[in-house]
Amino acid sequence: SAMKTRVLTAFPNLPQNSFEIQLETISNNLNFEYKTPTVIRIYNQFKKQNLFGDLKSEVEVAQKIASIECQDNVIQKVEAIDKGFLTIQLNDKFIEDEINALLRNGLKFPLEKKQKVVVDFSSPNIAKEMHVGHLRSTILGESLCRILEFQGQEVVRVNHIGDWGTQFGMLINHLLEEYPDYQTNRPALKELEDLYKAAKKKFDSNEEFKVKSQQYVVKLQALDPVCIDAWKMICELSRQEYNKIYQRLNVKITEFGESYYNPILSEIVKECEAKGIVELDQGAKIIRVKGEKVPLMIVKKDGGYNYDTTDMAAAKTRILDWKCDRLLYLTDVGQWNHFKLIFEGAKLMGWHHPPATSMEHMGFGLVLGPDGKKFKTRSGDTVKLIELLDEAKERALKQIQQRVQESQQGKEFSTGTALSPEEFDLAAERMGIAAIKYYDLKQNRISDYNFDYDKMLDPKGNTAVYLMYSYVRIVSILRKSGIQDFELFKTDKQFKISHQHERHLAAQLLRFVDVLQSVTDQLAINWLCDYIYDICVKIAEAYNQYRILNDEHTQTRLLLCEAIRMVLLQSFYLVGIEPIEKI
Ligand code: ARG
Repeated sequence: SAMKTRVLTAFPNLPQNSFEIQLETISNNLNFEYKTPTVIRIYNQFKKQNLFGDLKSEVEVAQKIASIECQDNVIQKVEAIDKGFLTIQLNDKFIEDEINALLRNGLKFPLEKKQKVVVDFSSPNIAKEMHVGHLRSTILGESLCRILEFQGQEVVRVNHIGDWGTQFGMLINHLLEEYPDYQTNRPALKELEDLYKAAKKKFDSNEEFKVKSQQYVVKLQALDPVCIDAWKMICELSRQEYNKIYQRLNVKITEFGESYYNPILSEIVKECEAKGIVELDQGAKIIRVKGEKVPLMIVKKDGGYNYDTTDMAAAKTRILDWKCDRLLYLTDVGQWNHFKLIFEGAKLMGWHHPPATSMEHMGFGLVLGPDGKKFKTRSGDTVKLIELLDEAKERALKQIQQRVQESQQGKEFSTGTALSPEEFDLAAERMGIAAIKYYDLKQNRISDYNFDYDKMLDPKGNTAVYLMYSYVRIVSILRKSGIQDFELFKTDKQFKISHQHERHLAAQLLRFVDVLQSVTDQLAINWLCDYIYDICVKIAEAYNQYRILNDEHTQTRLLLCEAIRMVLLQSFYLVGIEPIEKI
C-alpha cells in the first residue's frame, strides 16, 4: 500500500480501485527486496485515456514513479529497471523494527480467519505393510499439519486407514483355518504379511476358499462376533507396526479408518438416492459426474459398499458433523480421479459448511529407487520402512564421524566438543530421519523422485545435513559470545543494521510469514525448504563478509544471529527436523 500511494502520487488521475500492486520477492539482490510488474499493466490499461501526459512508454512511467519523493516507513527507495519493472528497497528502520519485534515477541503468524482443516494423510491399509508411498504421505502430512497449526488453524489429523472391505473376508478365513488358537497364540506381523500373501494365493486359486471368503465378508459386515474378533486382532497387529514408524518420525495422527463410517453407509446411499442423483448400472448404484467417464460407484453389484462409499460418508461427516472449512487429502497422484469424483459428488449433494468447504487433493509423485526404477530391495522384495530409517541413521552416523575428522584436520567447522556415544547416537538418529523427511519435502510434490541416500546426506547440498550444520554453527557463535542470559540481552538491546549483508539477511527473515502463506495456499511445502536453504546459504556468505565476535558491531550482529536462530528453529520444526547443537 505504501507502493500504491507512490503510484497515485505520481499519477493522481488513476482510478484508485483499478489496480493492486503485485509484489514479487527478489532474494538474490543485496539492495532490493521486491519487484513489481504492475506499472506495465497499468500503462497498457490506461495509455489510451491519456492519463500519463507526454510520457511515452512504461519505462518512462516507471521512472517517474521511482523519482517521486515520498516519505513513508516501509519503502526506502524505488528504482526503475528495464521494461517498466520497479524494484523496491525496504526501509532500514522498518527492517530493524521488525527484527526487534521478532526478538522480543517471537515468531507470530497474523491469521486472518481461523479455519477448521482436516488433513487426511498416511492412511495405510491393514494387513499390508506401509510402503514408501505411505511414507511420503506421512511426511508431507505431518509437515502440513505443523504449518497449519503454527498459522493458528484448527487442524484435525486423520488417518483414514483401510481397515474394512473385501480383503478381510479372505484374511479372516485364512486366519481361522491356519491359526484357530490365534487368541492365545498371536501371529507376529511378519506372519500377518505372509498371511495376506497366503490368503491371496488361496483366494485366487481355490474356488471353495473364495466362496467361503465372500461369505466372511458378508458376516463381517453383519458384525458377526467371531469375525469382528478376528478383524480386531488383524487391525491391532498392523497398528502396532505402523505406530513404530509414527514414533520414529514423530508423527501425531488420529485413526478414523474406513470402518468408522460403516454404521452410516446405508443412510448415505439412501440420502444420495433421495437427492435423485443415483443411477442403476447393471445392478450397481452409481453417480455420474459431468465430464468424467468413470462414475462414482456407491453400491457394488453384489450389494456391498466400497472405497467410494466410505469416502462419501467421510466427506459428509467432516463437512457437516465436524464443520470443517477445508479438507485436504494426501495420496499419490494416481488417486486424483477418485478424489475428483468424491469432491463433485459432495457438491452434487450440496454438502458444505457455510460459507463454503474447500476440498483439495494434495497429490504427489512416486518414490523410486536410486536407479529411477521401482523401489525394491536387492532381492526384489518391497522395501520395509523401518529398514529405510535404520539405514539412513547408519549412514548419518558415518557422515557425522567424517565431519568430526575433517574438523580435527581444520577443514570444517566444529564446536570442538567431543560427543559422548549417546550423543552420537542421538545425533545420527536425528540426522538420518531429518535427511529422509527433508529430501521428500523439498521436492516439487507432483514429481517422482529417486530415493538416494548419498544425495539426501550430502553435507554441501540442499539437504537437512547442510541445514543442521548451519544451525550448529549459529548456536555455537551465540554460545561463544559468553553472554550468560540471552533472553535478557535480547530484550534490552536494539538491532541496528551495520552491514549490507546484515541488512540483506534481516530482510530475508521478514519473508517468513509470506512464505508460509503461499505454502498453505498452494500446498507447496518445497517453498519453505527453499527458503530455509536460501537463508543458510546467505548466512555462510555473510560469515565471509563480516566478523561477528570481537567486532565493534558484535552486539547487533549477535542479535541478528539470534533472530536467524529463531527462524531456523521454527522452520526446522515445521519440516520435522530436530536440530543438534554441537559436533
Ligand atoms: N488407504 C488408501 C491407500 O492406501 C489411502 C486413503 C486416503 N484417504 C482417503 N480418504 N481416501 O491408497
